[in-house]
Amino acid sequence: MFIKKIIKSIALQYYRVQDKSRVKRFFAKIHDIAQQERVRSQFKSADGVYFESDVQLNDAQCISIGDNGYICHHVILTAWTRYQNQVFEPEIIIGQNAHIGEYTHITAINKIQIGDNFLTGRWVTITDNSHGNVSLESLHEAPINRDLCSKGSVVIGNNVWIGDKATILPNVTIGDGAVIAANSVVTKDVPAYSVVAGNPAKIVK
Ligand SMILES: CC(C)(COP(=O)(O)OP(=O)(O)OC[C@H]1O[C@@H](n2cnc3c(N)ncnc32)[C@H](O)[C@@H]1OP(=O)(O)O)[C@@H](O)C(=O)NCCC(=O)NCCS
Repeated sequence: MFIKKIIKSIALQYYRVQDKSRVKRFFAKIHDIAQQERVRSQFKSADGVYFESDVQLNDAQCISIGDNGYICHHVILTAWTRYQNQVFEPEIIIGQNAHIGEYTHITAINKIQIGDNFLTGRWVTITDNSHGNVSLESLHEAPINRDLCSKGSVVIGNNVWIGDKATILPNVTIGDGAVIAANSVVTKDVPAYSVVAGNPAKIVK
């Protein structure tokens, strides 16, 4: 009888804890829905996109992401309409089913266009701009005060996979189905359905 009582009391405690965690889960879900809406509302469009926490944005009204996108923790998506005295009309357009890995940084003052089914690993950088044009004159200025300049837009086709820590520099086109190996630095166009690796990236397959 005594043992039965103990078991009953343990069971009751167990269900109380379970109920509490159910309530906690419910409020966590509500918080997540509100958080998603708050982040999505900053974009030009990102309706069907899921954002993990701590995504960093700048001028997201110039950024659109297609349906079914998944943006991981700490991704940095920055379009710049102004930098000091400069004014830009940047665009970042990402297609459907994108999966962008943690700490990936995509930054534009000009245009970055990415097709459908884009996959990146972690710590990938894609940029269409640099601090200054590396003329001798500009090297006398503090880098942060140099004008931002873009050598050209970045265009990435459909079904492209970029491995961890790769960097895509301005004025580069990456063809459909290309694979960019981990740690590559892409300075030139990449043909469709090729694999490039290294710094500067060269075709390996
Ligand atoms: C691109 C990749 C898929 C190619 O794999 P693979 O087809 O098995 O290629 P191989 O290992 O046969 O390599 C082919 C050549 O490229 C070289 N290579 C491959 N990856 C390289 C890299 N990241 N950097 C420099 N060279 C590389 C190889 O040394 C080899 O050179 P060799 O022909 O002179 O011997 C793979 O190397 C890679 O980088 N994967 C990314 C992994 C990643 O970031 N995952 C995160 C999850 S999204």
